[in-house]
Amino acid sequence: MKVLMVCLGNICRSPLAEGILKHKCKQQNLDWYVDSAGTGKWHLGSAPDLRSVQVAKKYSVDISEQRARSVRSTDYEEFDLIFAMDTSNFKDLKSWSLDAKEENKIKLIMNEVYPDEMMSVPDPYFNDNGFEEVFQMLDKACDKIIEKYK
Ligand code: 4NP
Repeated sequence: MKVLMVCLGNICRSPLAEGILKHKCKQQNLDWYVDSAGTGKWHLGSAPDLRSVQVAKKYSVDISEQRARSVRSTDYEEFDLIFAMDTSNFKDLKSWSLDAKEENKIKLIMNEVYPDEMMSVPDPYFNDNGFEEVFQMLDKACDKIIEKYK
C-alpha cells in the first residue's frame, strides 16, 4: 500500500500523519510506503514545524528528517490512497485529479474515524496548544487506516 498524507504547508499536520502511520506500520511489520506533501508551496524543503517535531517525539515518533514538498501530478498515479487533512485540501486535491480513478483515491482522513462527517484536522499553525489535539486525532485515524486497508 502506498499512502500520501496531504495538508496545506506540509510542515504541521501531514508530517505528523506520515510519521505516525510509518511508526505504526513498523510496529506491525507492514511494508507500506508512506509520504506527505502540501497543496501550497511556501515551505518547500523545510523541516517540519518544531511544535510538530516535539509532540511527535513525546510519543517516540521521529519526524525531524522529513522535508516539505508540494503535491505533484504523478502522486495521483503513484499512490493508492491520498488523505487530505481538511476539507480545503480535499477540494484542491479533487480539483487537480484527472479522472475518476485518480479522484477515488482521495479521502478526508477523519472520515476514517467518523464516516461521512467531513471533519477537518484543525490547522495548528497559529495555535501553540493545537498540536496535541492534532496528534491524537491523527493517531486514531492511522489506527483505522491500518485496520481497514491492511
Ligand atoms: P500545515 O500548517 O498545513 O498543517 O502544514 C500550515 C503551515 C503553514 C501555513 C499554513 C498551514 N502557512 O500559511 O504558512
